[in-house]
Amino acid sequence: MIYPIIKYGNEVLERPTPRVEKFDDELRKLTDDMFESMYAARGVGLAAPQVGISLRLAVVDVSSGKTPEARIVLANPEIIHAEGEQREEEGCLSLPNFRGNVMRPMFVTVRAQDATGQTFEMRGEQLLARAFCHELDHLDGTLFIQHLSMLKRDLIRRKIKKLRKAGEW
Ligand code: NI
Repeated sequence: MIYPIIKYGNEVLERPTPRVEKFDDELRKLTDDMFESMYAARGVGLAAPQVGISLRLAVVDVSSGKTPEARIVLANPEIIHAEGEQREEEGCLSLPNFRGNVMRPMFVTVRAQDATGQTFEMRGEQLLARAFCHELDHLDGTLFIQHLSMLKRDLIRRKIKKLRKAGEW
């Protein structure tokens, strides 16, 4: 099932998420649906709040579905190591058509559980490191625009307000 992606303005996106406690068939169905929804929206990462579910769960695939091994489920993830810096343009499926330069670590190691509850650690660099940071932010109720200057953020907020008034958001 493909979920519609929740857009900026819905409070579920700015709420910290509760931990995943049950690793059952329902959770595995949810992660499958999140991958499907992410591919449909042409994203490389998707967090549960973006499909309206407040849960400490995200999926990432920086190969955009081309490599099955690139599918990563992050349940209850935490960053255990970060180093270096990268400054690149970043976007978000919940803020379609808005992008901004965000500073992130170049290398990030996460510890998380997979869809069966198994704990694993994974090191990512460049885009994968960025995706880990971006998705973990979502799980804390933080969106990438919070990393932009106040000026840039307010500009985006004003544009979205206009789009909403016009019924286009
Ligand atoms: Ni996002």
